[in-house]
Amino acid sequence: MPLLDAAKAVRENAYVPYSQFKVGAAIQARSGAVYVGCNVENVAYPQGTCAEAGAIAAMIAGGDTEIAAVCVIADAPEPVTPCGGCRQKLREFARRDVVITMATTDGQSRTMTMEQLLPGAFGRDHMSRA
Ligand code: THU
Repeated sequence: MPLLDAAKAVRENAYVPYSQFKVGAAIQARSGAVYVGCNVENVAYPQGTCAEAGAIAAMIAGGDTEIAAVCVIADAPEPVTPCGGCRQKLREFARRDVVITMATTDGQSRTMTMEQLLPGAFGRDHMSRA
């Protein structure tokens, strides 16, 4: 799966001196373009950024705004799901039916839709009276 291969490759570049936990993410935009990101930690811990956030930033910088599919990979006992903050970040650009594939470096994988990952998400409709 090309998107998984892209996530696996960028994971190698993760900067993780504090957690040693490398994560790679790849986004396929509706245009067909693929954008990748890895986690980038910081000595001031909260300033670190997740792999998904990096891939989203690359997508926006590349001129795309619609996510068609996402892959995330890490070396973990079971597939790692995106953190809560990243779920909301992905939801900004992913419709409810977008499939997120979560994989481990030893070959396990599971898929969930955006709606399964973030049911009842806060969205712009909630602000319609503003
Ligand atoms: N991390 C990600 O990059 N994506 C996830 O989906 C889960 C967590 C990173 C953040 C931090 O650098 C490390 O994994 C440990 O939490």
